[in-house]
Amino acid sequence: MKFSIRTYGCQMNERDSEAIAALLVQNGHEQTNVESEAELVIVNTCTIREKAESKALGKLRNLCARKRREPNFIVGAVGCVVQRLENEILKFVPKLDFAVGTRSKAFLPEIIEVIKSGGGPIVDCANEVEFNEKAWGEHKEGEITAYVNIILGCERRCAYCIVPSVRGVEWSREPSKIVEEVQRVVRLGAKEVTLLGQSVLQYGVRNNVWSEDYVSPRGYLEPFPRLMEVTDTVPGIERLRFISSHPARCTDEFARAMSELPSVCEHMHLPLQSGSDEVLKRMRRGYDTQRYREALASMKKYMSGFAITTDVIVGFPGETEEQFQETRRFMEEMKFDNAYIFKYSTRPGTPAAEWEDDVSEDEKIRRHQILLDDQNERGQRINEHLVGTSVEVLVEGVSKRNDDKWSGRTRTNKIVVFDAIGNLEIGDLVIVKISSAMPQTIYGEIEKC
Ligand code: 5AD
Ligand code: SF4
Repeated sequence: MKFSIRTYGCQMNERDSEAIAALLVQNGHEQTNVESEAELVIVNTCTIREKAESKALGKLRNLCARKRREPNFIVGAVGCVVQRLENEILKFVPKLDFAVGTRSKAFLPEIIEVIKSGGGPIVDCANEVEFNEKAWGEHKEGEITAYVNIILGCERRCAYCIVPSVRGVEWSREPSKIVEEVQRVVRLGAKEVTLLGQSVLQYGVRNNVWSEDYVSPRGYLEPFPRLMEVTDTVPGIERLRFISSHPARCTDEFARAMSELPSVCEHMHLPLQSGSDEVLKRMRRGYDTQRYREALASMKKYMSGFAITTDVIVGFPGETEEQFQETRRFMEEMKFDNAYIFKYSTRPGTPAAEWEDDVSEDEKIRRHQILLDDQNERGQRINEHLVGTSVEVLVEGVSKRNDDKWSGRTRTNKIVVFDAIGNLEIGDLVIVKISSAMPQTIYGEIEKC
């Protein structure tokens, strides 16, 4: 069948969609990016905030409306909303053919066969860890930047977060399987690999992944630095990244490993969530601002030019104006290169759902805008420091905003826009001299190919 996949949500979902696509292609289906041509559309859903969930459900209902004209058209949902709603998803989208949660992707080919032959609807929301390598190993050819899962699930219990209930228990994959996959994606053309997990620093914590007699060449004792070290040695890997991390587990060894391993980039996305110790405590984040400050200081101690990005939530239940101002001040102190700001959204079943959502929507909008404005001003200031310097850029292709230009990223994960020259190709590493800066993009000219 001709299928297309629409993905909402985080990198985990992006990666799941890729793996699903590759699995379906292996089973004789054909992927198309033109949704109207597809005989089967799968929506990979996100439930992190209420808006994300309603967007995905709205999309599913729209797709199902096509069934009136095309009775054989198949619509399926996968991912976090399915895992949250289970059978109830059929109440929201009554014409849905199948719904598969976050842990049954490997069964999709079989499920699609049943639907094709007139069966259904099928809802599969297994709770067991999906060990099946079939479900997470497949990649497309020609990706310059590839994602590789290293740990599934999340067992932190941040008071606002629905992820632990939809992504389940933590399970770390064996290092040898990860390295095999990294070798495979590099053979398929990847120059940059991002190791993925809800919290990569939990790698190997719940289930032991290193044998007792393993000796790391650089003497690392912690599981994640060891994994970075073995991945770094894969021939052909130019850049290694990881997402996402947690401030409570940023140790000195981890910072040292980041600086010692040549492919590991000088950037980290380290969610802060709030700059108020009182709010952090109620969020049950397991660190305070001092711990965050120390974590960042150790990165900066080992790596010059280190860049840091973050996530912040405004309007958490009980957040006062003064606590919000503390967040503003702390963000300025940390000099974030970029920040994703979210308005708090109550998620059913989370601890914070028991508390009154007492910051009004108007107030959340105001705080959100203030932090965005602050970040724009700060991003501009930080990026202007780069003007006149030369940076290494991994060429990703034609710029999204300007067809005449090309774009790529620095090791510090900044987007760089430049004029294409000669026989420039996607995947090239070039040196760009920076000539001007915006809060989230820098511009320049290629110096060296
Ligand atoms: N409301 C608003 N933002 C949330 N996030 C997670 N849960 C919620 C919620 N209930 C944000 C956090 C997280 C990012 C992926 O989404 O900042 O780091
Ligand atoms: Fe959305 Fe979280 Fe699921 Fe990612 S893991 S898709 S952010 S709910």
